[in-house]
Amino acid sequence: MIDLTSPRVDAATSVLGIETSCDETAAAVVVGGHQVRSSVVSSQVDIHARFGGVVPEIASRAHVDLLTPVIAEALVEGGFHGPELGAVAATYGPGLVGALLVGVSTAKALALVWDVPFVAVNHLEAHLYAALVEDPSIELPAVVLLVSGGHTMLISMEAHGQYRLLGSTIDDAAGEAFDKVGRFLGLGYPGGPAIDRVAMEGDPKAVAFPRAMRNEGLDFSFSGLKTSVVNHVRKHPDAATEDVAASFQEAVVDVLVEKARRAAQQTGARGLVLGGGVAANSLLRERFLSACVEDGIHGFLPSRAMCTDNAAMVAAAGWWRLRSDGPSGLDTGADPNLRLPLLTD
Ligand code: KG4
Ligand code: ZN
Repeated sequence: MIDLTSPRVDAATSVLGIETSCDETAAAVVVGGHQVRSSVVSSQVDIHARFGGVVPEIASRAHVDLLTPVIAEALVEGGFHGPELGAVAATYGPGLVGALLVGVSTAKALALVWDVPFVAVNHLEAHLYAALVEDPSIELPAVVLLVSGGHTMLISMEAHGQYRLLGSTIDDAAGEAFDKVGRFLGLGYPGGPAIDRVAMEGDPKAVAFPRAMRNEGLDFSFSGLKTSVVNHVRKHPDAATEDVAASFQEAVVDVLVEKARRAAQQTGARGLVLGGGVAANSLLRERFLSACVEDGIHGFLPSRAMCTDNAAMVAAAGWWRLRSDGPSGLDTGADPNLRLPLLTD
């Protein structure tokens, strides 16, 4: 039986993080919530590319094959033996249920064998912590623009574990729009990095795509933009793909940056932080930093590797959760629809 009493959690506490929520199999060792000793990511992109998107059953099987060697590499590189760890943390949601189960079951088994605590981590919370891993000096409250394949949210991070939702997408996530438009333009999967690349050769002013809900609060909408791209290409079959990609990307980035800076102004945040896979986008990174300089706010951009799915952010979020809530029970299951715990008052 595992001990559920809160262990001492301090700067020397090491956490093995495990991430298997979608198509990256990742493990990392992080000490004290921010010192990354190792971070190994094995991408399944090549396995899913020929299907044009992630095939859940294939993802689960690939995680089964890849996770043990990925964990072994993270431990060797990090210089840790399992029983020396302070805890094992794994993403338990949101994500693909079969994929999540592989990480959660492995983490619980290792925690039991090594006799160390298990910590269940919310994948969205892990993305929020990505920036803090690289810059622990970020002052709270900070506004985080979390833009991933499944989510587009503006969150006020008021203190550790205290999040207020300022705005979110009412339909598609920004990453989903990149992936759908990328597929429609024949750029393959995932669409985000492909559009980022192709857009560099195009004219962002070639097509004036709509900026939905631009003046309506802090929520987003991207599904109309995707439809506009499809309609434009059907009407102008000779339009250069580079121009369409650049114009689409410009429209997404315009809205994301405008709403993020508005959120920071409205909340009086000390910092503005980017997180999630779309935060790897070159134009978004450039515009985001210029906006922060213009507005005199401390902007923080995690490295590209920290924006996309990785286990260092899971280990970091796990360290904070272990400190605030103690270990998770071994009866904790995968929760594909898990939400970010939000302040409601
Ligand atoms: O955070 P993430 O790795 O996984 C989720 O939790 O969803 O985000 C994946 C998303 C995909 O939609 C992918 O196309 C997008 O991030 N993405 C990008 C770029 N790199 C990844 N979108 C735009 N530009 C990029 N460079
Ligand atoms: Zn993610």
